[in-house]
Amino acid sequence: MAIPDSVVRHYARDAIAERVLGALRAEAGAEVAITPDTLAPLDHFHSRGVDATADLLALLAPRPGELVLDIGCGIGGPARWIAVRAGCHVTGVDLTPEFCAAATALTAACGLDRQVRILEGSATDLPLPDAAFDRAYSQNVVMNVADKARFYAEARRVLRAGGVLALSNLAAGPAGPPRYPVPWAASAETSFLSTPETTRADLEAAGFEILAFHDITAAMHAFNEEMREKARSGAKPRLGMAVLVGDALAERRRNTARAIAGGNLLALEILVRKPG
Ligand SMILES: C[S@@+](CC[C@H](N)C(=O)[O-])C[C@H]1O[C@@H](n2cnc3c(N)ncnc32)[C@H](O)[C@@H]1O
Repeated sequence: MAIPDSVVRHYARDAIAERVLGALRAEAGAEVAITPDTLAPLDHFHSRGVDATADLLALLAPRPGELVLDIGCGIGGPARWIAVRAGCHVTGVDLTPEFCAAATALTAACGLDRQVRILEGSATDLPLPDAAFDRAYSQNVVMNVADKARFYAEARRVLRAGGVLALSNLAAGPAGPPRYPVPWAASAETSFLSTPETTRADLEAAGFEILAFHDITAAMHAFNEEMREKARSGAKPRLGMAVLVGDALAERRRNTARAIAGGNLLALEILVRKPG
């Protein structure tokens, strides 16, 4: 099976928007307002949830009215949250048709369809014209992409000269591969982790200028420890990624937390610029 098919198979679920809205209404009441903030515990599909998106937004710093691209937008939580916070227009592209359908439905439920649009497509062959965006970002997506050169080349192609790309993702640590499954991959077959050094070299080879390159592994570890303490004390959040992923999430998170603690995974936040 081709890698993109295996990736889609890993993420695809039925009736995602219905499940997300159902979980939110069950917790907060049938009349709860559907907004990027009320949905936030459920639709930011990466470690540290909306806090990681807030950090990424601070790095990306879009201005009101700018055109922003979310590469691998998932069910669109970060795209909606950033569009509303920054007053920009966000286009989300994702490979998984079920995620695109959910992202479109949740965006409509928030009344944001004029500010956020969702397209199905691959990061390595973006269905978008050249130089169309002021800024782009991608959260926890490159770990699923074997051809990083092509990913970065496509991001660069669709940015205008002077445009910036912000990346937040996990990278290969010095202690060898993590134990699988992890949230982004059931096995090593669809996990492509680069070291920080290779990431930097790939971005420069793609023609980007590096503006910031932060190792945030310590912050990720601290977050994981906090979550472990909360779980130990029985304070389990009722809204979370488990609504989407189900019981499988616990083992995947445990493996990620161990890999972060053990030096198998590092967490990076990067900002690069297309010269011009
Ligand atoms: C861990 S989820 C993160 C989703 C979203 N960025 C977020 O943080 O909420 C990874 C996402 O990357 C998407 N993805 C993986 N490979 C991709 C590719 N080659 N092109 C576009 N999307 C891809 C998956 O479909 C999935 O939605």
